[in-house]
Amino acid sequence: MSNSPATDTFMFAGRPVRRMGYGAMQLAGPGVFGPPKDRDAALAVLREALAAGVNHIDTSDFYGPHVTNQLIREALHPYPDDLVIVTKLGAVRGDDGAWLSAQEPADLERGAHDNLRNLGLDVLEVVNMRIMGDVHAPAEGSIEKQVTALAELQQRGLIRHIGLSNATSTQIDEALRIVPVVCVQNHYNLVHREDDALIDKLAQQGIAYVPFFPLGGFTPIQSSGLSEIAQQIGATPMQVALAWLLHRAPNILLIPGTSSVKHLRENLAAADLNLSDEVLAELDAIGGVRDGA
Ligand SMILES: NC(=O)c1ccc[n+]([C@@H]2O[C@H](COP(=O)([O-])OP(=O)(O)OC[C@H]3O[C@@H](n4cnc5c(N)ncnc54)[C@H](OP(=O)(O)O)[C@@H]3O)[C@@H](O)[C@H]2O)c1
Repeated sequence: MSNSPATDTFMFAGRPVRRMGYGAMQLAGPGVFGPPKDRDAALAVLREALAAGVNHIDTSDFYGPHVTNQLIREALHPYPDDLVIVTKLGAVRGDDGAWLSAQEPADLERGAHDNLRNLGLDVLEVVNMRIMGDVHAPAEGSIEKQVTALAELQQRGLIRHIGLSNATSTQIDEALRIVPVVCVQNHYNLVHREDDALIDKLAQQGIAYVPFFPLGGFTPIQSSGLSEIAQQIGATPMQVALAWLLHRAPNILLIPGTSSVKHLRENLAAADLNLSDEVLAELDAIGGVRDGA
């Protein structure tokens, strides 16, 4: 693990992308369902992110559904050339807000068109195949059908780059035999480190690793050890959790989610936080020691 200041950019989808991005999921209503309580506040968060230099936004048409993409379009279209909007396919929402698997080729094509329409794009820059074998955690099982369908959408010009989400190492290898994979988006943070070995493997392959729930998700990380360290170095616990991720590996790109401009500014400032070897060792001890570390 490096103790130097976090590298600012990573080559992602063929261009240098700032390692601190923004995840738009929190902009939809409660339970990621329906419209936000305060639409103007949601638009303000998106505009502030871009004004602060963010050029990587993560979204999906099943956030809302449609709501998050429509907010992004309203706030930011026409998009700056350097902005990479990453979306995902593989699920739809039930009338009650349930997250339903939608992994058939026809589902994926429909989802691609929904994203194009709601984002106001001619081509989707990066699309993550969100694997739903187990909704909550990666589960083994062939993904050849889904990845082949995405590769066809890519050949037809609807998608430029392909990524995977909620994927096992075996599934990533299977996908790589079909198409180039530019990113993997899995659950990972200071206290949830199942993917440690995978992150190192992807770093060697030059593939971006984009942790979802970098702050713990719907229940942000709470740790007395983290709070103590944050107090010692004059930062907030959330900033330290994000800075730890930036120090963890050079291929990690962050997409912390927030519906608040105040939290957005706090999170973006974490990119400037330099953690010493001692602090990194203390943080490692909170979440368990990595394989080989
Ligand atoms: N591929 C997948 O399956 C998947 C799954 C989940 C998420 N994602 C993506 O990953 C992105 C990040 O995940 P996430 O948004 O669910 O979780 P997260 O970034 O770990 O945390 C978001 C939560 O932390 C709070 N928060 C954010 N900044 C804070 C701060 N500085 N201080 C205190 N609380 C703060 C937010 O509340 P406030 O709104 O009040 O700030 C929200 O409750 C999402 O936006 C989405 O794009 C992907």
